[in-house]
Amino acid sequence: MKQYHDIVGDGGSRVLEQVAEQRSRITEGLAGVRHLLAVGSGKGGVGKSTLTLHLAGALRARGLRIGILDADFNGPSQARMAGVQGGVFVPGSRKVALPRTSNGIAVFSMGSVIPESEALEFDSAAQGESHTWRATREFALLSEILGSFEWGALDLLMFDLPPGAERTVQYADFLGPRTSFVLVTIPSEVARGVVARSVAALSKGRNRLLGYVENMSGYYCRDCNTIKPLFASPDQPSRLRSPSFVAASAKAEPPGLGIPCLGTVPFDPELARHCDRGTPLADLPGTAVGRALDHVAQQLLDSLESATSADKEPRR
Ligand SMILES: Nc1ncnc2c1ncn2[C@@H]1O[C@H](COP(=O)(O)OP(=O)(O)OP(=O)(O)O)[C@@H](O)[C@H]1O
Ligand SMILES: [Mg+2]
Repeated sequence: MKQYHDIVGDGGSRVLEQVAEQRSRITEGLAGVRHLLAVGSGKGGVGKSTLTLHLAGALRARGLRIGILDADFNGPSQARMAGVQGGVFVPGSRKVALPRTSNGIAVFSMGSVIPESEALEFDSAAQGESHTWRATREFALLSEILGSFEWGALDLLMFDLPPGAERTVQYADFLGPRTSFVLVTIPSEVARGVVARSVAALSKGRNRLLGYVENMSGYYCRDCNTIKPLFASPDQPSRLRSPSFVAASAKAEPPGLGIPCLGTVPFDPELARHCDRGTPLADLPGTAVGRALDHVAQQLLDSLESATSADKEPRR
């Protein structure tokens, strides 16, 4: 039986060349993308996918060219939310074209390929050992997706990240310093604690952390046109708030996370319904949640633009 020391060099696999080729395909594929933005949290179920899609929608309405890469391969939500569950990937001469939402956002999601009744499986020869290399396989798949799809000329490519503070850092490491991060939290101490860990972990790396968005910041009641508290919090007294509170509170610096707050978004059952149905929020500007998303979208854009111009300034 051959042992490791019998293998000469890379054993003929050309593994280093293969990695270099893939890296250059990714760089070339993303060359036309102006901004890369990862939407993470660490905490699950706080609205990363919802905000990714609807912030993309708000920016699309301003005329920006947007793509979304649903990096949550095991629990992809974008296919359903964006209405591209039946979307087909059309092979072009060199790369594969992406399905688009009705408002023109290009979306890659595993949910377009794998039905919700099935789980993503990576073949494993070693029974009981798949945990040791699953992340490696996932990032290999992400490389393949980045290198094989036609991203084209985009103003913004958004990565909808999976939950898990450690995963957030893995993605930061993989995507490299060109990718900025925005984190999503909700007004509960449990969520804030997890997101604080992501902030701490990301702060050690090289990626720009633009700030965070507080989602589910109150419950918007369409019947009485008021925002009611959803989570008890010492910072938000239990009282009814008018929709104008949303914009006003976006300017405040909520406690604990130590990074800029890009805005707050209330919970609106109508938004959840649109997510389930996969339809864009058409009446965005006319609702409290729409105004909140629009405000956050503008803040995001401003931070991305100022991060880019800071990069161009000569360093002292
Ligand atoms: N502001 C909101 N108003 C109404 N519904 C919302 C809002 N934010 C999120 N939701 C709903 O909450 C649920 C969870 O949201 P979502 O899937 O976006 O969270 P997530 O952080 O991406 O979850 P995961 O960690 O599993 O990826 C979804 O059903 C979504 O429609
Ligand atoms: Mg999600």
